[in-house]
Amino acid sequence: MNIVDIINKKRKKISLTKEEIEYVITNYVSENITDYQMSALLMAITINGMSDEETIYLTDAMLNSGDKIDLTSISGIKLDKHSTGGVGDKTTLILAPIVAATGLNMAKMSGRGLGFTGGTIDKLEAIPGLKTDMSLNDFKKQVEEIHVAIASGSKKLVPADKKMYALRDVTATVESIPLIASSIMSKKLASGADVLVIDVKVGNGALMKNKEDAKKLANLMIKIGKNYNKKVVCILTNMFEPLGEAIGNSLEVEESINVLQGKGPKDITSLVIFLAIQMVKIGKDITIEEATKEVRNVLVTGKALNKFYEVIKYQHGNIKEMVISDKVISIKANKTGFITEINTEAIGELSRKLGAGRYQKEDVIDSKVGLKILKKVGDFVINDEELVKVYLGEKDININEILDCFTINEHYHKPNPLIIETIV
Ligand code: URA
Repeated sequence: MNIVDIINKKRKKISLTKEEIEYVITNYVSENITDYQMSALLMAITINGMSDEETIYLTDAMLNSGDKIDLTSISGIKLDKHSTGGVGDKTTLILAPIVAATGLNMAKMSGRGLGFTGGTIDKLEAIPGLKTDMSLNDFKKQVEEIHVAIASGSKKLVPADKKMYALRDVTATVESIPLIASSIMSKKLASGADVLVIDVKVGNGALMKNKEDAKKLANLMIKIGKNYNKKVVCILTNMFEPLGEAIGNSLEVEESINVLQGKGPKDITSLVIFLAIQMVKIGKDITIEEATKEVRNVLVTGKALNKFYEVIKYQHGNIKEMVISDKVISIKANKTGFITEINTEAIGELSRKLGAGRYQKEDVIDSKVGLKILKKVGDFVINDEELVKVYLGEKDININEILDCFTINEHYHKPNPLIIETIV
């Protein structure tokens, strides 16, 4: 077997065998296959696709490239949630404490920002002192003691994905359904949870730009999960506009607290409650009505908010020291009308430009910067009304670039539904 023949096969749209896929992953991780050879193969896969069987073989080879977490010593069902990535998506920060406050176990391995999308770990690290890098034993101990831990994946967990993702990010091979499915599922299978709820974002601020592709990705991930006897539920949700108001790390932590206090923006609040109800229903094997009651109860009594503070304290964070920039400028609408479209990806890029995200792995994030999107699709705005607040750091931003992200029209445009479809 050799890599050149394998690349050639995929280039000619011939399916790869299990052995060939295992050969590629093993030798790429051990550095016997070079980045340029892997890039060529990834591009051939992105262009020519993979069958479901090939994707399952790829997931398995990636999963077996490193350690797997065994959570069986923790009693009760272990739940995990994943998002395919969006702009302003702080769902995990709010959802994890809600679900844990109902008594279920949330064993959450999270990632950093990718491209224009933000990552849970970067958001949490906006809280001074907070540690997400923990040993497997500490991760398990925390879940056992307080029902929830949010950790950055260990370097030993799916090393194949770490190398492949970094390469995909710089070779325009991120947006491939089989590569996304195997990347997400190998990591989630390695993290050991019994039930996985995946928020598949759809829209101009997501990897999946339309519902058809999102459904394909969802069905493929469910099929991979079945292969390992794991329950996977995919919920397709709207990413045609940022989620909530806040984009940027400290701002998103602040908004998460607001949601837990019952005073957050409507869209993020509704989405988190919807996801929490699904997780509690599955985790406790109860009806939707019973799950709804439990979720409402932990929110109204403040138990979910207390759980959030408990996680922060357990992970050594000091929320009182979190900083949000006080260099704030207001961007005002330049005409009157209805907002019909928001270029969500461009907004994500602007927040990255402000310093809230990275261009290179080594870049240091500026947690205090970001944007607040005060008007959403379907809203009516008057000329000179405030549209966006910008929280500046060292880097400047061009006001017109922000205004260009909004399309304002005289005719009303109905916003896309927040929850598009649930696939099980
Ligand atoms: N998230 C992942 O973890 N992997 C991908 O390939 C895309 C989104």
